[in-house]
Amino acid sequence: MSSGQGSIANNTSGGFEVYRASKAALNQLMRSYAARQAGDPRAMVLMAPGWIRTGLGGPGAPFSMEETIPTLVDTLIAQQGRPGLRFIDRFGDTVSW
Ligand SMILES: NC(=O)c1ccc[n+]([C@@H]2O[C@H](COP(=O)([O-])OP(=O)(O)OC[C@H]3O[C@@H](n4cnc5c(N)ncnc54)[C@H](OP(=O)(O)O)[C@@H]3O)[C@@H](O)[C@H]2O)c1
Repeated sequence: MSSGQGSIANNTSGGFEVYRASKAALNQLMRSYAARQAGDPRAMVLMAPGWIRTGLGGPGAPFSMEETIPTLVDTLIAQQGRPGLRFIDRFGDTVSW
């Protein structure tokens, strides 16, 4: 599970630096893993789920889990049979690295 906050390209506002760095590091680790597994038929996904009301997201997040998780799961299932690594949001749209 990644985050839109892990996108270096989209970081135009700053803030949450340590969290951003942890997700950028996760993304980098997955890039290396995928590069080392070239030819692996499995789908690999780094998911940016959106800002969701959880313990981490807090009460001010705009979306509930009920609104978001079914979409997220559908998107994950739709990646089956698609080899390679993707950084995507819960709708399946590409997030810039
Ligand atoms: N919510 C958002 O808006 C949002 C946005 C982008 C990405 N994400 C990502 O989604 C993932 C899930 O987050 P969430 O929003 O569902 O957060 P959450 O409700 O706060 O849940 C965090 C989970 O991580 C576990 N955890 C925390 N510290 C841990 C540790 N040191 N060792 C092992 N487990 C630990 C907690 O376990 P306990 O319950 O036992 O403490 C809990 O199950 C995270 O990777 C987060 O970065 C969330």
